[in-house]
Amino acid sequence: IYHTPELTPEDKVPDCAIAVDVLRATTTIATVLAAGAEAVQVFSDLDQLIQVSEAWSADKRLRAGERGGAKVAGFDMGNSPLDCTPERVQGRRLFISTTNGTRALQRVQNAAAVTAAAFINRAAVVKYIMAQQPEILWIVGSGWEGSFSLEDTACAGAIAHSIWQQTELPLAELAGNDEVMGAIALYAQWQNNLLDLFHHASHGKRLLRLDCYEDLKYCAQTDIVDVLPLQQEPGVLKV
Ligand code: MLT
Repeated sequence: IYHTPELTPEDKVPDCAIAVDVLRATTTIATVLAAGAEAVQVFSDLDQLIQVSEAWSADKRLRAGERGGAKVAGFDMGNSPLDCTPERVQGRRLFISTTNGTRALQRVQNAAAVTAAAFINRAAVVKYIMAQQPEILWIVGSGWEGSFSLEDTACAGAIAHSIWQQTELPLAELAGNDEVMGAIALYAQWQNNLLDLFHHASHGKRLLRLDCYEDLKYCAQTDIVDVLPLQQEPGVLKV
């Protein structure tokens, strides 16, 4: 487990990388794919997003841009999973750039397999990991501009906890590093009160200031969407 993308070693590539941005990028990615979007293409840079998406007709694309929790002017939508209704997204490609989540996905895009996880699709991601049995697995929290975030580490702990429950391995052997033990402990403490945990999280507080309480409530649900976003080519995720 790495708490932020910046902490991942630059000279190593895992067999599988799971990017996590519970509030809200990976929750939105799982939601939009569940609602029938053709794919999600992630960008760290807003200008590059606009340039690449120009090649798609307006009825086949949606541009989502978020900075500091707020929608970027001129984009079709911000980063709220609640905006991803089937009527709006079906058959379209979501071109998305967010403050941290899309940067995390770009950071791990050279891994042999890349997926995106949040609480809402935790079970689908764990099922995939159990089937693939990657030797080296990274779970990478997006954090906030290089800092630790409670919600991403708790979700990393939820994934590790579930893998641990499904393996015969003693925890000490599976965990391997202090981050895993810490993340599982954080999840174990808050698993029945994730919404409360989000209220303590700095980005949770930021979103509440932006009137996004309903987003927090949605993101706090566990295993409600059976979707595995899988990278097909660098930066492009599909089910
Ligand atoms: C991010 O990428 O930093 C987040 O998803 C921000 C947000 O839209 O809540």
